[in-house]
Amino acid sequence: MSVTKKRVLVTGGAGFLGSHLCERLLADGHDVLCVDNYFTGRKDNIAHLLPNPNFEALRHDVCFPLYVEVDEIYNLACPASPIHYQHDPVQTTKTSVSGAINMLGLAKRLRCKIFQASTSEVYGDPSVHPQTEDYRGNVNPIGPRACYDEGKRCAETLFFDYYRQHKLRIRVARIFNTYGPRMHPNDGRVVSNFIVQALKGEPITIYGDGSQTRAFCYVDDLIEGFVRLMAASDEVTGPINLGNPVENTVAQLAARIIDLSGSRSRIEYRPLPVDDPVQRCPDITRARNVLGWEPRVPLEIGLRHAIEFFDRLLSEGAEPAPALSPTV
Ligand SMILES: NC(=O)c1ccc[n+]([C@@H]2O[C@H](COP(=O)([O-])OP(=O)(O)OC[C@H]3O[C@@H](n4cnc5c(N)ncnc54)[C@H](O)[C@@H]3O)[C@@H](O)[C@H]2O)c1
Repeated sequence: MSVTKKRVLVTGGAGFLGSHLCERLLADGHDVLCVDNYFTGRKDNIAHLLPNPNFEALRHDVCFPLYVEVDEIYNLACPASPIHYQHDPVQTTKTSVSGAINMLGLAKRLRCKIFQASTSEVYGDPSVHPQTEDYRGNVNPIGPRACYDEGKRCAETLFFDYYRQHKLRIRVARIFNTYGPRMHPNDGRVVSNFIVQALKGEPITIYGDGSQTRAFCYVDDLIEGFVRLMAASDEVTGPINLGNPVENTVAQLAARIIDLSGSRSRIEYRPLPVDDPVQRCPDITRARNVLGWEPRVPLEIGLRHAIEFFDRLLSEGAEPAPALSPTV
């Protein structure tokens, strides 16, 4: 397939999703500028891309304006797991809000398309299942998760105001739980937590009784959704849910991981953290109809890839630090 080579900016490009997106854009023949302050991202995630002449990495904090020349912007910069975003909540809100203002300002100057990595967290602890894009959410504005949830909600507001006020071409994706290689080993997210515990033969910690459900999307599927959304016609602004609608209970996930990793770990139950949603599942009808997109990688295959990655990481001696606070 022949593509028009574009200069693409990926903020948060050294993170989990960002590094996979950079990889995909390079494979599609584009020129990629990865911008990251390495708060949660790692140079190791992009080390293999550095020899590519179409790839460039720049250390920069999106809370400050950026002056570069590009044709498209994917704005992913933001810590994504509760442990990381609650570490410095004021900085988290600044990253979402000032980061959005700075990147939207850049897109306005360049008249280029801009994509926002929003989140299912904008739905908070939802009272409808599965969540459609017109559900307005149930977010606690003063809770410990608010710096992330409200920061992302405000970023969406800014995107739609730039769209209405400045006729900017925007794309807003609401991303649901995604997993795969290069997830942080110690960020307390359920898939990485369980895999690391299983590989180390430690007890698998389930917060709550394990009956809460989560729907997990493999990273390659998600990135395909990003690229399709960016390529869609300009009327497709989103918000559009991207995630896997197949639900699993957390207890089922633990059993699957124990089985696939051949582990002897047992399960330990702990109390649920504050504001933790009991159920979260995307309605992806809009993504199916508008983008012709749906996840293709079965959980078992995706988990095998993730287990391989963590197995390698642990065997290289990368000992994950203990989780600061629990989350699923
Ligand atoms: N992974 C998921 O399941 C998921 C779900 C919903 C939404 N998202 C969103 O997708 C995006 C990427 O998430 P991820 O899972 O790859 O997380 P990640 O933490 O691996 O990546 C975030 C990246 O942003 C960088 N960053 C943070 N603050 C920055 C700043 N001020 N300036 C520049 N760079 C900064 C980090 O160093 C990191 O490389 C985030 O915006 C997140 O909110 C992810």
